[in-house]
Amino acid sequence: MHKDIDRILFSVDDIFKAVSALGKKISEDYKGKKPLFVCVLKGSVIFFSDLIRAVTLSLEIDFLIAESYGSSHESSGSVEIIKDIGSDIRDRDVIIVEDIIDSGKTLFGLDELLKARKPKSLKYAVLIDKNTGRGGGVAPDYKCFDAENEFIVGYGLDYAEKYRGLPYIGVLKKEIYIK
Ligand code: IMP
Ligand code: MG
Repeated sequence: MHKDIDRILFSVDDIFKAVSALGKKISEDYKGKKPLFVCVLKGSVIFFSDLIRAVTLSLEIDFLIAESYGSSHESSGSVEIIKDIGSDIRDRDVIIVEDIIDSGKTLFGLDELLKARKPKSLKYAVLIDKNTGRGGGVAPDYKCFDAENEFIVGYGLDYAEKYRGLPYIGVLKKEIYIK
């Protein structure tokens, strides 16, 4: 596992500090509210587990699996919810927890689908903002880290379902995915 990593981008300590700070910020912003935190499986699972423990609110949790398809992130319905949440989000304060935003396609598609359910508010907390060549209009409300356009794994993030269990976030060696 570790031998496939080119370098560590964010250490266990970096992650702990950033996620704790984000939890504190969300707790302040949602003071007196009972937000529903939605984990976008599978990549967000570790971030989600740490984040909700850093939030000092009376919160609720739910889970979904989204799949993006098609090539354009402009077109509506480019994201399909494969496993939906069980909660009714109408008039709720909802925080979607995502692992990483790259093109923004997943977030954009989810936004359209979930807004149609009329939540009171809908915000996005992401672990990593790759911010690489995507158009305007799709930006996370909360984020822990920015990253360059490299393939990163660990702390829930995978390459072909591997490396999710690494405790840190690292850049995957190019020879692993470029054959
Ligand atoms: P987007 O729809 O292009 O924003 O892509 C977001 C999804 O692509 C994320 O939720 C991840 O599942 C996956 N992804 C994008 N970049 C990476 C990466 O560097 N490592 C692991 N997964 C990634
Ligand atoms: Mg994902």
